Amino acid sequence: MATWITVCETCKREGWDESGAERPDGAALAEMVERAAEGTALRVRRVACLMGCDHSCNVAVQASGKLNYTLGRFEVSEEAAQGIVDWAALHSASETGQVPYRTWPVAVKGHFVTRHPPLPEDDA
Ligand code: FES
Repeated sequence: MATWITVCETCKREGWDESGAERPDGAALAEMVERAAEGTALRVRRVACLMGCDHSCNVAVQASGKLNYTLGRFEVSEEAAQGIVDWAALHSASETGQVPYRTWPVAVKGHFVTRHPPLPEDDA
C-alpha cells in the first residue's frame, strides 16, 4: 500500500495576512513537498484544511493498515519539505508505520500532532 502525504494547501502561518504573499503558506509547502517526492514511490495530494489551522502548516502521512500521523507547525522551507518526504519514506518502508525515533530526520522532530491507529479489518 502506498504511503500518502496529504498537504493542507490553505494553511496560513501567523503573520501571513501582513506578509503580502499571493498564496497560502500551505500551497508553497505543498509545491516543495511534491518536488521532493518526485522519483519516489510516495504519493502526494493537497486538501483544503486538515482542521489544525492554529498550528500551520499541517500535513498527514497515511497508508492503509498502518499507523497514521498528522504533523504541524512547519515553516515553508525546503528543509521542512525534505524532512517530511524522508520521514514518509521511512513510514512507507515500515510494516506497521512506526518509525524508530533515532532515524527521524531533524526537520520533523517536534512536529508530530496526532497518531491514529489503523482501522480494524472489516468482518468478511
Ligand atoms: S487551513 Fe490548514 S489546517 Fe486549516
